[in-house]
Amino acid sequence: MKQESYTPAEVAIQLRNRKHELTESLGRDWYDNHPFKTAWFNAMSITFPLGEQSFIDSVRRYADKITDPKLQREIRHFCGQEGVHRREHEHYNKTLCKERGYSLDYLEGRIARKIKESDAKLSSIQRLAVTAALEHITAILAERMLGEDVDVNGVIEPPMKELWSWHAAEEMEHKAVAFDVYRTVTKNKPYSEKMRKSTLRLATFFLIQDIVVGMIHMLRRDKKMWNLRVWIEGMQFLLGRQGFIRLSWPAYKDYFKDDFHPWQRDTRPLLENWEAGQLSPD
Ligand SMILES: [Fe+2]
Ligand SMILES: [Fe+2]
Repeated sequence: MKQESYTPAEVAIQLRNRKHELTESLGRDWYDNHPFKTAWFNAMSITFPLGEQSFIDSVRRYADKITDPKLQREIRHFCGQEGVHRREHEHYNKTLCKERGYSLDYLEGRIARKIKESDAKLSSIQRLAVTAALEHITAILAERMLGEDVDVNGVIEPPMKELWSWHAAEEMEHKAVAFDVYRTVTKNKPYSEKMRKSTLRLATFFLIQDIVVGMIHMLRRDKKMWNLRVWIEGMQFLLGRQGFIRLSWPAYKDYFKDDFHPWQRDTRPLLENWEAGQLSPD
């Protein structure tokens, strides 16, 4: 039997089936009492339910090509985790839009149309490459979310912090599953590496577009769209010296290395820290 999974043996991809009650926090600017920072996370959440369903579909399509029982098991747990994330973020998004007067039909509708279009245009293997690429982005953002410096000043409302760090931890656990499936099924195919790398560029572009469109809708409805101070502080938060995106940049670029694997970044200590901080483990 060939080894196809390269997730470290001691990392368990666990199904936790958590439920979150977020109504109160979602009605407010729950991140640092700041409209831009809050909208950044809320706009990301909008992309999750439909995005994660398409991740599940694209990986499942190749499940029968996998022979390593470890990777087969990881695919099942990956689908289980993403299924619960999808459910929790569906609830999140519905509550958010209701509480704050955003249009869920507008926000999700355009993402649904784009996924439908790309499903029609892309082959199954290209869709799997998209999933591997977006899982890379998710994993490096998860790394930031679980880092010690993310909330030193206690600026994130606790129920929101719990949801986002739970999601981040599970993303980290399964960060190599789609990647290992892609590597396995494209082994010895000449296009494999080129497709993998170019897909990350494309997927990044479309994800940023979705987030920006979502944020503009939210900031408009919040009447904060033309508040220069909000934008300057927001840009600082993303791109400043300690910015969320800026700090993730080196890890993002690793994907373009020929011998890249998600677990070359050994993020087990972050997972262990998160586990240790859980008051009521399942
Ligand atoms: Fe997820
Ligand atoms: Fe994921």
